[in-house]
Amino acid sequence: MRLKGKRVLVTGAATGIGQAVAEAMAAAGATVIAADLNAEGASATAKALYKAHHGSHHALAVDVGSEASVKAMVEKAVSHAGGLDAVVTVAGIGMHKPFLDVTLADWQKVHGVNLQGTFLTCREVARHLVAEGRPGALVTIASGAATRASSSVSAYAATKGGVLSFTRAIAVDLAPYGIRANAICPGPVATELVERAHSAEMRKSFEATVAMHRYAKPAEIAGAAVFLVSDEASYITGADLAVDGGFVNSGVIVR
Ligand SMILES: NC(=O)c1ccc[n+]([C@@H]2O[C@H](COP(=O)([O-])OP(=O)(O)OC[C@H]3O[C@@H](n4cnc5c(N)ncnc54)[C@H](O)[C@@H]3O)[C@@H](O)[C@H]2O)c1
Repeated sequence: MRLKGKRVLVTGAATGIGQAVAEAMAAAGATVIAADLNAEGASATAKALYKAHHGSHHALAVDVGSEASVKAMVEKAVSHAGGLDAVVTVAGIGMHKPFLDVTLADWQKVHGVNLQGTFLTCREVARHLVAEGRPGALVTIASGAATRASSSVSAYAATKGGVLSFTRAIAVDLAPYGIRANAICPGPVATELVERAHSAEMRKSFEATVAMHRYAKPAEIAGAAVFLVSDEASYITGADLAVDGGFVNSGVIVR
């Protein structure tokens, strides 16, 4: 099994992409610590992992935007699993609003979770790894919205562009410690976030714009996270991997 012996913290693990990442990590042999603001959802994920794959999996409640909460999450994860080898920072929220209507509160809310949450989680896990003198892998979740502009995503796109630049920058700072940092850029993925945020018109437009003409299943994003955490990616750092059915790199499409 590709991840046997690795202990992987997954934030946002109650639903959607995070839940699928937790499932894929456990299927690959990892011990998973499933963390989420939705504590019940995180527990349900950990229980499902045990049922399907046995092993030892844990659930934690966290608000990734809070420094105290993230510090407590990493401390508890280390104590439950006996240490950490990797993190996948999936916790995030959407924000679809025309630019002229975006309030400072909207801007701060989405930055607080998506960008600040990614920063705090990666920093605390990296501090743990460096203190233990252990190599490790950090995987962040950016978005196709970081590089390709769509309507009404200014605040959200800014957070994801930030996640991308942040991931490249920490890859440089952490390379001397044997810690790799990479970002995944999903295209549209059929999750609850998308159910809430994508209108029928937007859905039609995405399906026409993506080269593969469909949304991803959450499990299709999770496979990339398993690869980036695994030793098979040992020389990959500072990279961003588009898992988007050809969304970012496609132009005019004639069917
Ligand atoms: N779904 C897509 O099309 C898509 C595309 C590109 C990127 N993404 C990114 O993938 C990530 C997951 O998206 P999803 O579609 O699975 O969303 P989702 O809403 O299904 O899941 C997000 C999870 O994050 C948790 N969460 C929210 N705020 C939190 C906080 N402050 N602390 C801890 N947990 C918190 C939620 O409880 C939820 O379980 C997000 O960062 C999102 O921006 C999603």
